[in-house]
Amino acid sequence: MSNMTNSPMFLLMAAVIIISGLHGLQKESPDSMPVIFCFAVIGLVIRIVQIRHERVRRKDSKAVIDFEQLQKMDITKHVPWLKENLRGHDDVIDRIASKIQQNITIASHKKSLGAFMLVGPTGTGKTYIGELVAKALYPKSEVMIIRMNQYKSPQDVVTLLGPPPGFQGYEIGGSLTRPIVDNPYRVIILDEFEKAHTDVKHCFYDILDRGMCTEKSSGKTAHFGATVFFATCNSGVERLRPIWMETQEPMKRTMKARDAMAREGFEKALLVRFEDIFLMDILNSMTVAEVACIQISKYWKQYGIDVTYTSPEMLVDTVRRNREFQDYGVRQIASLIQESSAPVIEAARKGGARSVRLGLDTVSGEFQVETITQ
Ligand SMILES: Nc1ncnc2c1ncn2[C@@H]1O[C@H](COP(=O)(O)OP(=O)(O)OP(=O)(O)O)[C@@H](O)[C@H]1O
Ligand SMILES: [Mg+2]
Repeated sequence: MSNMTNSPMFLLMAAVIIISGLHGLQKESPDSMPVIFCFAVIGLVIRIVQIRHERVRRKDSKAVIDFEQLQKMDITKHVPWLKENLRGHDDVIDRIASKIQQNITIASHKKSLGAFMLVGPTGTGKTYIGELVAKALYPKSEVMIIRMNQYKSPQDVVTLLGPPPGFQGYEIGGSLTRPIVDNPYRVIILDEFEKAHTDVKHCFYDILDRGMCTEKSSGKTAHFGATVFFATCNSGVERLRPIWMETQEPMKRTMKARDAMAREGFEKALLVRFEDIFLMDILNSMTVAEVACIQISKYWKQYGIDVTYTSPEMLVDTVRRNREFQDYGVRQIASLIQESSAPVIEAARKGGARSVRLGLDTVSGEFQVETITQ
């Protein structure tokens, strides 16, 4: 109702009727009655057109998902690219891609395209895999990263799903729902999911179950039929490690993982709404070195320099010598290698190099740059 009365068309209509009514009364002339009648009819017609327009718009938010087109999508063709960018988690990529693909073939507005819980220590690629899947699936849509540690109190439910009419910010809608109403082709990362308040977590019971959620403020429905959810979590690693070592069979692993995460404090009813739970554990030295190579190459590409390597193994030593990555994950070691290689590459760049080969002096541990002339 509040939406309707706030509409400029409605206000204009009301103003017209009141003014014409007053005009009629002022003159106390029955001649003015046809005028009032005309204005009232015009107002009514405007309102009817407006309501029909509103209905079409609401239907649109449901209809914007073109399920026929969606079912033609093929995420499996992006698997090599995903593995090239995310190192050391090939099995996770395979499982996620095949689950999403299964869901794509039966996509409907009753269910999301998948919901996965990713558990692991810091800097192992949990958020990154969500970002990569988003790029592969929907290159034109921005990935949605919701930092769940900002939803620690029960009141934060309204931020997520939109405040009721009359409350501050109600016209903006919910931080989860409104971007989906505007564009349902999304990947949503619920970062540090364990840190959200229980009431906030409860919102996902319905969303993951029915694939939809209606904003209290606007009455607009967010449809998650084209959405993939990733919930990342730092806690539970110690519980999942033995399961991953003992159990190879994926279904059994998932069931045991659910029990383990329930002991970690998650409600079972919520855990079963996630299709799968994955452990993304710390990467081995070789993988970290590869990641560092990728990152250095990407970094220098921005400055027009192609970096190749004598061999990625050369970085393993650097990685091994610095134990920090054990605690801080790939983030730390990559920035460390980047920092120590930067001066030599920068010097080569200033010397006009467009392409360099990066090596490591095994005695001094210093980086060496060889300029490649084309
Ligand atoms: N396995 C990996 N392969 C390639 N790059 C990686 C990998 N893991 C991390 N990275 C790089 O490190 C960055 C940080 O990783 P990410 O944000 O995914 O960590 P996280 O596991 O979500 O950690 P946190 O628990 O602290 O949020 C990524 O943007 C990516 O560049
Ligand atoms: Mg993260």
